[in-house]
Amino acid sequence: MRHLMSPLDFSTEELDRLFDLAGDIERNMSKYAHACDGKILATCFYEPSTRTRLSFESAMLSLGGNVLGFSDAGSSSAAKGESVSDTIRTISCFADICAMRHPKEGAPMVAASRSGVPVINAGDGGHQHPTQTLTDLLTIRSLKGSLSNFTIGLCGDLKFGRTVHSLINALVRYEGIKFIFISPEELKVPDYITDMLKEKNIPYEEVIRLENVMPQLDFLYMTRVQRERFFNEEDYVRLKDFYILDKAKMELAKEDMLVLHPLPRVNEISVEVDDDPRAAYFRQVQYGVYVRMALILTLLDIHVD
Ligand code: CP
Repeated sequence: MRHLMSPLDFSTEELDRLFDLAGDIERNMSKYAHACDGKILATCFYEPSTRTRLSFESAMLSLGGNVLGFSDAGSSSAAKGESVSDTIRTISCFADICAMRHPKEGAPMVAASRSGVPVINAGDGGHQHPTQTLTDLLTIRSLKGSLSNFTIGLCGDLKFGRTVHSLINALVRYEGIKFIFISPEELKVPDYITDMLKEKNIPYEEVIRLENVMPQLDFLYMTRVQRERFFNEEDYVRLKDFYILDKAKMELAKEDMLVLHPLPRVNEISVEVDDDPRAAYFRQVQYGVYVRMALILTLLDIHVD
């Protein structure tokens, strides 16, 4: 039985196969409509979500399966003190596969160690968000044709942003990637990540002003400053609108640069950017469904001819 805790759980060859499958699903949706007949996905979300939970549910329903779960720990027996270990042992009696989001780093890993069914980490605290990373990689590969040889700017909350940490870890396995980290001093990417980049001789820059680096970028990965990760409301208020991508800044970018964002956004991308053909963040959401369909099939070892 296989789980997904980190994007690194799959080799680059396995990721290629997963993305090929996602591409086939995109082109031939009806071929997969009964692939998971009789199977059940549980979504156990101890933290709020729109995209991840609903795209998992959409993915399983599109494969002919069914879904159950909870979207709020307060409506589950966690509110009565039940452990994650006991919850997953219970869920294993009800479902064939489980996607779990939890505010505590490592909670999905604890669940996987006690589970009778595959567990997918759907985001654990500020640690990892592997299915967002699969979504991001599939989006880049689908829209640019390759996962190599580009400069990506990651902008915003690089300290607490689990999507950022997962994406950097995944991209270092590809050739010719340069990172530009754009953040205020307080939200810089953690040292363990820059240490890893130095060790692997992967080029990166750390800057504060987005405008200065816009012309260099092939991708701009915007992120939200996450109120829920701050200990202090004053710091959040001071930093929340540090970056706002607007039309004026987009004029500094290459004609074929693409803007990605894991979403939800708050103010960091002005809605006036949405109509720019380079705004790819809602296309990214759609790729999230295809890649989660491919992931469910892969973890359940279901093959469709
Ligand atoms: N990208 C993402 O994880 O969005 P949700 O929090 O809405 O699931």
